[in-house]
Amino acid sequence: MFSRFLKILKKAQFDKNAAKSFKSYYDKIDKSKAYKRYCKELQGLPCSMQNNLSITQSKNLFKLLNERSDLKILDLGAGSGGLIKSFKDKHSFTGIDLSIDNELLNIKQADYHAFQYIEDYFDLVLSIDSLYLVSDRAGLLRKINSTLKSQGEFHIFMTLLENYEKSSLKKELENIFKSVHVIDNSKEDKELWHEAYEYLLNNKSEFSSESDKRIFNTKLKEIEKNTSLAHKTSRLHIIATKE
Ligand SMILES: C[S@@+](CC[C@H](N)C(=O)[O-])C[C@H]1O[C@@H](n2cnc3c(N)ncnc32)[C@H](O)[C@@H]1O
Repeated sequence: MFSRFLKILKKAQFDKNAAKSFKSYYDKIDKSKAYKRYCKELQGLPCSMQNNLSITQSKNLFKLLNERSDLKILDLGAGSGGLIKSFKDKHSFTGIDLSIDNELLNIKQADYHAFQYIEDYFDLVLSIDSLYLVSDRAGLLRKINSTLKSQGEFHIFMTLLENYEKSSLKKELENIFKSVHVIDNSKEDKELWHEAYEYLLNNKSEFSSESDKRIFNTKLKEIEKNTSLAHKTSRLHIIATKE
């Protein structure tokens, strides 16, 4: 009971500050050539994004998006829309994000808990590092299941701070979706953080020449945090399918 209250409180604080902070960070990374190169070389991303995908996870995501066309896709926590920009000619996207409103890319500024989901509408729902502070996760998962068409898939890319097999996330997903398949990319994740640290230090001057230290400092903190937690986290790609 108390932990649920704490979670709601934390989320309210997060909502208040996060939208503004994400927005100003996205403005910076969208302009940074050094960051774009970081995303491409370390993560295999075609554009600047703010996530923890390793090259293996990016490949799997792009394979999914390349091998089919004309899908209706919902990108939950779409960020500044890098993924949508890269695939908008192949699929029809809707994005939801707390911090971004972009009519051109069809990203609606909204809290994904409160969004009005249309039933049986999307072929695919994606959440790329956007499911961390969810106040009512089971409620959200039910909404995602209902907005998917029959056999539609929900793909989650995330770092879990606990053992998935014992987690409440596993129980919730298995209760709500017809089937759940989990790919554990923890090994690639550890390699990513190791390489990212070396890359960042070797390319510090490229970031410094852009005269703003925020991207370099944010990335360094993120790398240090993920490296120190790597022994107890799992990096997962979860595929939950609707009946
Ligand atoms: C780490 S970023 C990932 C962005 C994007 N998926 C990417 O790969 O670049 C997480 C995003 O989720 C969004 N987000 C977090 N909680 C949200 C919520 N409750 N409703 C809508 N968006 C949310 C944030 O605004 C942020 O843009």
